[in-house]
Amino acid sequence: MGKIAVCPGSFDPITNGHLDIIQRGAKVFDEVYVVVLNNSSKSPLFTVEERMELIREATKSIPNVKAGSFQGLLVDYAKSIHADAIIRGLRAVSDFEYEMQITSMNRLLNEQIETFFIMTNNQYSFLSSSIVKEVAKYGGDISELVPPIVKEALLNKYTSKPN
Ligand code: PNS
Repeated sequence: MGKIAVCPGSFDPITNGHLDIIQRGAKVFDEVYVVVLNNSSKSPLFTVEERMELIREATKSIPNVKAGSFQGLLVDYAKSIHADAIIRGLRAVSDFEYEMQITSMNRLLNEQIETFFIMTNNQYSFLSSSIVKEVAKYGGDISELVPPIVKEALLNKYTSKPN
């Protein structure tokens, strides 16, 4: 069996920064599952189904990428799909502390699953789903920041909802 990696996140919504990490991860691993955390305590803009659909559309040209969702512990989900690894993107030093915390916890929970970090391309080091939503909400141009399908979905959300 080939090497399987899971790339978890909120993906609310997927951005070009995520896509860069996914594309590069998919060159190293045989299969990459991009999985949305289904966490009822957050109040996301997009439903889990919508986020998975945007991931599917945005990654449709990468044959070894699949979209999914999970609840509960990431390591349990990773084990259920026989993943060997977790992929996370690192943008800046500010990400490091949080990533170290979750990586250490995941290793404590299951030391068989290794976490790999991919440094985000410099052009996306400032990018986050939250910043994209803020710009989109107030009518700024997000064409360079998200895939076209995500831009359309964001415009739909913000034109059908009052600010
Ligand atoms: O995109 P995000 O919000 O930074 O992703 C965070 C995520 C989904 C990777 C993390 O919250 C997670 O794995 N949550 C699942 C619960 C879990 O496994 N917790 C233990 C490790 S902190």
